[in-house]
Amino acid sequence: MRIHLKQSVEIILKGGVLAIPTETVYGLAASLSSENGIKKIFQLKNRPLENPLIVHISQIDETEPLVEKKPPFFEELASRFWPGPLTLVVPASDTVPTIVRAHLPSVALRIPGNPLTRKLIRQAGPLVAPSANLSGRPSSTCPEHVEEDFGSDFPILDGGACAFGLESTILIFRNGEWTLGRLGAITCEQIAGVLGYLPKASSSQKALCPGQKFRHYSPKARLKFGGERRECDIVLGFDGRDYPGASHVISLGSLKHPEVITQNLYKSLREVDLKGFEEVWVDSDFPRSGLLEAVAERLKKASN
Ligand code: TXA
Ligand code: MG
Repeated sequence: MRIHLKQSVEIILKGGVLAIPTETVYGLAASLSSENGIKKIFQLKNRPLENPLIVHISQIDETEPLVEKKPPFFEELASRFWPGPLTLVVPASDTVPTIVRAHLPSVALRIPGNPLTRKLIRQAGPLVAPSANLSGRPSSTCPEHVEEDFGSDFPILDGGACAFGLESTILIFRNGEWTLGRLGAITCEQIAGVLGYLPKASSSQKALCPGQKFRHYSPKARLKFGGERRECDIVLGFDGRDYPGASHVISLGSLKHPEVITQNLYKSLREVDLKGFEEVWVDSDFPRSGLLEAVAERLKKASN
């Protein structure tokens, strides 16, 4: 059910949950100050309680009460990339409810790029919001996807299709440096432009973002990421390529336009299920740089 800003503010202030548009993917939002609303998010998504949520704010000074201590380069990263698809994980103050951060000492923060959502935050206060999909499923990049997962009566603040179609990049300040928690819509090269170094992925086996260890982005169909295609005749591939013998090709777009590929990614993964395919071969022969590195990571996870 598509609703307006005024109704959205009312839902949030009453401790309810609704879907909100962001420039990355749709989020399932509740007020940071409503424990009931936050609990509802976990229930609706069937999300494990040990997977913490990102707090969405509308301007940088709203970080003040939430952050215990700002790490070096926090201001520089925030002023360069916010509003935008970068999430910063920093030491949390006691005011951040433990359910939001899954009892971690840190909090994940970002200012979303969608002006309608920032308006909602200005009127209703900071929002916690995971991606608006059932846990494990592909994220939602348009209102139709939210309806697929939560039903046509579910309230959605309609912002149309998401500009990036890929989640925010997550940086975690840890042991004196910024580390990559999740690849996303801001590339590591862009971040290096501010930090002067490429944020490293965690060297330990333990995922830095608790969410990274769970099943993710997956359609019901079995995906085969690369390897021999053999008898698999359904292909998730790219424009301008030949897939001899394929009975159906879903194209993610042209490799010349990675930003179009990210826009199509989750739509294509959802299409696999809508078409009822059981097994799909995914073309893994593409460069691992810029946005395509994140695309490869998502497709690999989706195929696990
Ligand atoms: O683009 C996005 O980031 C979207 C939109 C809606 O903002 N949100 C999103 O949320 O992708 P979600 O919940 O699907 O993914 C958030 C990730 C999870 O892997 C979670 O474990 C991690 O962020 N996270 C949240 N708080 C954290 C913390 N304090 N420390 C480490 N990781 C954290
Ligand atoms: Mg998610």
